[in-house]
Amino acid sequence: MKPIGVGVIGTGFMGKAHSIAYSASASVFGTGLRPKLEIVCDLSPDRASQRATDLGFSRHTDKWQDVVNDPKVELISVCTPNNTHSEIAIAALKKGKHVWCEKPMSSSMGDSQKMAEASLNTNSKTIIGYNYTKNPIVMHAKEIIEKGTIGRVSGFFCRYDVDNEADGKRPWSWRMSKKLSGTGANGDILSHVISIAHYLTNSKISRVVGDISIIHNKRIDPKNNEKTKEVDNDDMVSALVHFENGVHGHIGASRVSWGKKCGLTWEVHGTEGTICYNQERLNEIKLFTRQQDSSTDGFRTILSGPDHPFYSSFLPNGGHGLGFMDVKICELQGLLNSIENDEPTWPSFTDGLAIEKVMESVDISAINKKWLSIKY
Ligand SMILES: NC(=O)c1ccc[n+]([C@@H]2O[C@H](COP(=O)([O-])OP(=O)(O)OC[C@H]3O[C@@H](n4cnc5c(N)ncnc54)[C@H](O)[C@@H]3O)[C@@H](O)[C@H]2O)c1
Repeated sequence: MKPIGVGVIGTGFMGKAHSIAYSASASVFGTGLRPKLEIVCDLSPDRASQRATDLGFSRHTDKWQDVVNDPKVELISVCTPNNTHSEIAIAALKKGKHVWCEKPMSSSMGDSQKMAEASLNTNSKTIIGYNYTKNPIVMHAKEIIEKGTIGRVSGFFCRYDVDNEADGKRPWSWRMSKKLSGTGANGDILSHVISIAHYLTNSKISRVVGDISIIHNKRIDPKNNEKTKEVDNDDMVSALVHFENGVHGHIGASRVSWGKKCGLTWEVHGTEGTICYNQERLNEIKLFTRQQDSSTDGFRTILSGPDHPFYSSFLPNGGHGLGFMDVKICELQGLLNSIENDEPTWPSFTDGLAIEKVMESVDISAINKKWLSIKY
């Protein structure tokens, strides 16, 4: 096993998830590159120091430039708010580092374009954190679709609903600002939906008509409870979509849907069957294929197991189940394999830009209330 030095920038939900993946991947997979936790960065020196201790990094800093310039670091995780991704990722690429950047790519199309351009001028690997495409049972679903088990794909339908912001009394955060986050539910969670759409259909969305709405347009200012701050990006977003390969469907997302904890659900309909998935039951898919005897047909449940890519590295038996963090470890392993064998990643910054174009088109078409064609 060859070591690879890693640095993590931002230590909230995702910075912790990336760090856990770096700590675990060599133990789980036992081959290839072994990540070495070199340096971690967060905004305050105290927080950075505490996170270095908690997560097991050798060094810490409150300046992301220290991570980018660190000669021992070969692979950098960008786990900061969206409006910082572009500057950090481009600087890291210029220093020849591989970059694992959280989704969405950035907070503006211009910045995402610059990131994709910067990635084309290097030998570095890039990947955007669209982890829901890295779940072994979802990878298996793609294989089933590609084998033609459900016939020709006729429809793709996917929603991602959460109740993170359903309570109107929850304070304002960077996610509710166009400047800091870009779009709202669109960039935050519809982006995942679009990644799944492109992944499962092996085709890109080429036409959209979108719809957006803001349910709570003012939130308490977290710095002063007496004041409110404006929410200027979408709480809910939906779109009808057409794909380059002729498939039609619809997609949607909401951050204000009570009771939906990780309500990511998708269905792929085909001329001979249907596959369904629900992220709150992330170890199973439901498959329907037409039977000779219609009196006994129905959906059957396929549980995650050692027949599915990556699963057997965690567990020897089916049905025991993987979790969100395990899927993040799978995502990392795919990236490490690409670095080691000089193979393409998915979704690279170029693939990520295609996802951003759909997000932007949904937003513009919702504002103009018109169908929009997407140029890649
Ligand atoms: N892939 C997924 O499923 C998933 C899930 C959640 C979040 N995300 C993405 O991950 C990113 C981070 O989200 P999060 O939920 O971890 O946010 P968070 O608010 O929990 O954490 C962000 C961290 O970045 C730090 N930070 C902010 N600016 C910084 C800077 N300039 N330099 C260093 N540190 C800085 C903050 O102090 C904080 O610790 C976002 O882009 C988000 O969209 C992805």
